[in-house]
Amino acid sequence: MQSFAFNTVARLVSGSGEALKLAEHCASLGVQNALLVTDPGLVAIGLIAPVQDALCAAGVEVCLFPKVSEDPPEAVVFAAVDAGKAAGVDGVIAVGGGSSMDVAKVAAALLCSDQPLSDMYGVEQLSGGRLPLILVPTTAGTGSEVTPVAIVTTGETTKAGVSSAVLLPDIAVLDADLTLGLPSHITAMTGVDAMVHAIEAYTSKIKKNPVSDNLARSALALLANNIRTAVHDGRQRDARAAMLLGAMQAGQAFANAPVGAVHALAYPLGGHFHIPHGLSNSLVLPEVMRFNLPMATGLYAELAEIVVGSSVSGSEEARAETLIVAIEELIDDLSMPATLSAAGVGEESLETLAEDAMLQQRLLINNPREVSYDDALGIYRASF
Ligand SMILES: NC(=O)c1ccc[n+]([C@@H]2O[C@H](COP(=O)([O-])OP(=O)(O)OC[C@H]3O[C@@H](n4cnc5c(N)ncnc54)[C@H](O)[C@@H]3O)[C@@H](O)[C@H]2O)c1
Ligand SMILES: [Fe+2]
Repeated sequence: MQSFAFNTVARLVSGSGEALKLAEHCASLGVQNALLVTDPGLVAIGLIAPVQDALCAAGVEVCLFPKVSEDPPEAVVFAAVDAGKAAGVDGVIAVGGGSSMDVAKVAAALLCSDQPLSDMYGVEQLSGGRLPLILVPTTAGTGSEVTPVAIVTTGETTKAGVSSAVLLPDIAVLDADLTLGLPSHITAMTGVDAMVHAIEAYTSKIKKNPVSDNLARSALALLANNIRTAVHDGRQRDARAAMLLGAMQAGQAFANAPVGAVHALAYPLGGHFHIPHGLSNSLVLPEVMRFNLPMATGLYAELAEIVVGSSVSGSEEARAETLIVAIEELIDDLSMPATLSAAGVGEESLETLAEDAMLQQRLLINNPREVSYDDALGIYRASF
């Protein structure tokens, strides 16, 4: 067996009501004054007040930073750091989706070091430590609560990632109660993002390993079996809990066996057209899989049994093709736009998108099949 390394979060807590017990985790980490990072939508629907009240009732001081925007720009990170500094916080908590968790991760590092953010981008560039960090996801999508990555919007059309083991939190808390009111279209998009994490981790070219494989398979089973219920009947707590567990496991998988061409081709869609991350992935997923098929037939055939069930039959090629068709049917069932044109992308942009996708070499090297500019353009055209 090839040698491999696997890293994940030191402590994971899962259960109904766990988000109201964060004070216990603050005590275990010695946090008395916490920066609570979240977004204004979550405050408006009343999701944050009970968490904040429970912390305060237990004697933890809270500096609320409720200003995270989707695809957060650097300015939001700096504002969170300023708020934390002014309040003299000694720990950081995020309650929110990937956007809030990513801001909290970078803020926890910046609050503890003089290193400029611009020097932190890339892989293992962080030179300092971070404040104690607790992450509580409210979407079942990014898996950011268990990844060493934070994504920040750096320009008009560009995003950059800070990837460092320092950004793995001390504690990740999964509480499906927080996700019961997640609107169905966000449930669909973020859920497909998590499925893509599992699929791309399973076919990741360089770093896939027996542990990431098991997590990817388990994640995909949980996500595929529960996403329709979570989208169409979101108050079903068991389906929500399964989605949260699946998204977290997919996060553990791709944190160690990184994602490939689906994400590489999705990022320019977010940058140029502000299409949400999960939808961007879903728009190119079937055609990237068709492109990858010759190099990933066996792996896709294995995943077909998880997504479609034991009824899947025929040759390896036929079973792999069944997986792609099942994914297309799922996207249709979830009422997501299925083509780039339906999502508002103009045909004249496809060349620019392909050029930008080629800049994502950090991701493309993990893809099971090499992707050239012409290949990327072909995939966008086929997805149009
Ligand atoms: N760090 C990583 O490993 C990683 C991986 C993939 C993506 N990302 C990044 O994460 C971000 C996307 O995160 P996301 O998809 O979780 O979405 P998000 O955090 O941007 O939130 C999307 C919307 O959903 C709303 N929302 C979230 N939870 C809710 C709930 N429980 N009830 C009602 N509304 C709710 C928010 O208010 C927001 O309007 C992007 O910036 C992406 O680049 C990070
Ligand atoms: Fe993703």
